[in-house]
Amino acid sequence: MRRLQFLAAFLLALGALSPPMVAAQLRPDYYKNICPNLESVVRGSVRRSMAQSPAAAPATLRLFFHDCAVKGCDASIMIMNPNGDDEWRNPDDQTLKPEGFYTVISAKAAVDSDPQCRNKVSCADILALAARDSVFLSGGPDYQVELGRYDGRVSTRASVVLPHGTFNLDQLNGFFSSLGLSQTDMIALSGGHTLGAASCGFFQYRVGTDPAMDPAFAAQLRGSCPGFAFLDSTPLRFDNVYYRDLRGGKGLLGSDQALYTDARSRGTVERYAADQGAFFRDFAAAMTRLGRVGVRTAADGEIRRDCRFPN
Ligand code: HEM
Repeated sequence: MRRLQFLAAFLLALGALSPPMVAAQLRPDYYKNICPNLESVVRGSVRRSMAQSPAAAPATLRLFFHDCAVKGCDASIMIMNPNGDDEWRNPDDQTLKPEGFYTVISAKAAVDSDPQCRNKVSCADILALAARDSVFLSGGPDYQVELGRYDGRVSTRASVVLPHGTFNLDQLNGFFSSLGLSQTDMIALSGGHTLGAASCGFFQYRVGTDPAMDPAFAAQLRGSCPGFAFLDSTPLRFDNVYYRDLRGGKGLLGSDQALYTDARSRGTVERYAADQGAFFRDFAAAMTRLGRVGVRTAADGEIRRDCRFPN
């Protein structure tokens, strides 16, 4: 009996200590009755954005990560404060390409053109769907997106803390564990670098100095400064070539190559390099977990009418 009492008290204490189960309120069919065609409308809009610019898909995927990693997935990254103090003006966010913002704003306009849906779908959810569609329409996995997030009202420059391309494995793990994500999640999500590019300033310091870099790749990179280089050798395809490139010493950022150099993460890189299906499954699962970070409810959020401004 005493044991049972102790167990009950322990479980109660655990409940009080652990953060609220925000994930529980998210579900894929959240808008089923509110906006039945949501998914096809967003997908159609993302397809049009991608036809307009090859930068749309990479920029949108990165935008989702930068939103979720700072104050949770609440589309706070899209807020433009009149006083200029907002997330996207932090140096770590100033390299976000405008195409990602356009993709979400266009998808929101497409959703709102249906009177039934107007101002009923959060920018945070449209961003989560647009990120998934960017992945899928680039050849990556299709997966169900959990929905029901509310938009935040606050965005400040000082709140931005993001991983840097100079990070080693411990630093990368430290950052992702602060979001409740595992090393495997981190390695799978880094596979987002199968799309897009990085400016010379992010990798130039490694060229000719980092022994982990393949010499032929280094020679090739010398020609890309000033300018940019692609994060993997098939930058428009969402595939596992990013991991195969790491195996060949062709990781562009230090934080990419570290995943292969460090023996503690190399096995997972090898697995994804050998098995694209395993990468796709783990990426989808990790995106779902990333999508649960710091989710807001009606109590502390809103459905923003214009993704750029709080209501
Ligand atoms: C693991 C830690 C990460 C670091 C250190 C990192 C760092 C960077 C850097 C330095 C760039 C180049 C930015 C530029 O030149 O403008 C970049 C680009 C990019 N990142 Fe990451 N990133 C990380 C994780 C992620 C995650 C989790 C995702 C998404 C799942 C992601 C998606 C992207 C994409 C798609 C691009 C290309 C953007 C474009 O071409 O517009 N990154 N990242």
